[in-house]
Amino acid sequence: MSRSAHPAGPRHADVLPEGHYSAPPADLNALDQKVWAQTVSRGDDGVVTVGGIPVSRLAEEFGTPAYVLDEADFRSRARAWRTAFGPDADVFYAGKAFLSRAVVRWLDEEGLNLDVCSGGELATALSAGMPAERIAFHGNNKSVAEITRAVEAGVGRIVLDSFQEIVRVAHVAQSLGKRQKVQIRITVGVEAHTHEFIATAHEDQKFGIPLAGGQAAEAVRRALQLDGLELIGIHSHIGSQIFDMSGFEVAAHRVVGLLKDIRDEHGVELPEIDLGGGLGIAYTSDDDPREPHEIAKALTEIVTRECEAARLRTPRISVEPGRAIVGPTAFTLYEVGTVKPLDGLRTYVSVDGGMSDNIRTALYDAEYSVALVSRASDAEPMLARVVGKHCESGDIVVKDAFLPSDLAPGDLIAVPATGAYCRSMASNYNHVLRPPVVAVRDGEARVIVRRETEEDLLRLDVG
Ligand SMILES: Cc1ncc(COP(=O)(O)O)c(C=O)c1O
Repeated sequence: MSRSAHPAGPRHADVLPEGHYSAPPADLNALDQKVWAQTVSRGDDGVVTVGGIPVSRLAEEFGTPAYVLDEADFRSRARAWRTAFGPDADVFYAGKAFLSRAVVRWLDEEGLNLDVCSGGELATALSAGMPAERIAFHGNNKSVAEITRAVEAGVGRIVLDSFQEIVRVAHVAQSLGKRQKVQIRITVGVEAHTHEFIATAHEDQKFGIPLAGGQAAEAVRRALQLDGLELIGIHSHIGSQIFDMSGFEVAAHRVVGLLKDIRDEHGVELPEIDLGGGLGIAYTSDDDPREPHEIAKALTEIVTRECEAARLRTPRISVEPGRAIVGPTAFTLYEVGTVKPLDGLRTYVSVDGGMSDNIRTALYDAEYSVALVSRASDAEPMLARVVGKHCESGDIVVKDAFLPSDLAPGDLIAVPATGAYCRSMASNYNHVLRPPVVAVRDGEARVIVRRETEEDLLRLDVG
């Protein structure tokens, strides 16, 4: 598979289920709780509600397309991760999945930490009041300005990604008269995606320092020598949309092997190990994600077992779930603009958004579900492809799904599980304006990220 790696989605298109809907679902009006946010249900009048609010009202008040985020669901998933790992471990929400100041405040209140990977994410976190010591700063090419800002702010850890960065961060910290806590991100030769993982001798990717060839050991050697750095642990992130824990097993084995080598060579037992994020969610009814408590139990057991075998004290574990917290909590609400049946093929349903609000289908062949949400329908199912309004034939939101055959312009449809890597990867392609994020809770809706306006676009264009 030559497709390049990206943390936000499956790399191996060939492991995705093909032709995911082989037959229409028994009831097109049913909403599979697995793929929809917790407070979503269909009322007696056929209209879908979230947080007690009908989607028709949301569309009227906030327009379409819009990302609709269930705050109660977000908080309860964040809390579930926090509780599952307990006080002896740390959960860092991966802000790249979706970040806004409201989200930062929810995370702070629910006791989670935050992983940021750019100056922009760091600025958002700090401006919303996240205590700097609970922020981890990631990225494979942090600028000196970004590093300086992070060290000055007092972030809890910087995750070092290259030999150059080891020196760069040490230099910045020293010139500010500080000693910065750091982890080293290593690549352990494990690639995990969806239901498969591959263990190889080395990994051909831009992130981290390879364990292979003694490179990670050399990075540790250098970091331990620099006064500006306090090396607190080793970091490993193995992939995305993972359901199978065996990739983590191999990764933990290799990371603990390095911790043992460090102890033997330097007489130091590093106190922390970070196993990254990448845990999978249900995009369609075919996906079966694990609960946070099962994941916490499995990861803790793996690390404890490996450390016992290596006669090491078990380090403090941290994880960085992004998608698994925010992914299922939001759906994208669209209005249908055109319905175009193509004889013998499928019906193309055009909505008022597209690849600018959800690039994952075009980028990764990602699978999504869709439902008619502004009314119920008893019409026969039709095989549909939900497409956007962009000048690009690959502008597909949902590749294959069944929708009622009486679908018409003006109907509202919603695509669930779009909380992660949709708004955060949104673009202005064709100068389409990015949709708002509307948070709903207990019968109230509020905009947490407003819709872009033409003035926003023109402000950047200085003429
Ligand atoms: C280092 C690191 N941590 C955490 C994550 C979050 O992954 P996910 O949203 O799949 O949990 C990523 C994703 O790219 C990552 O690169």
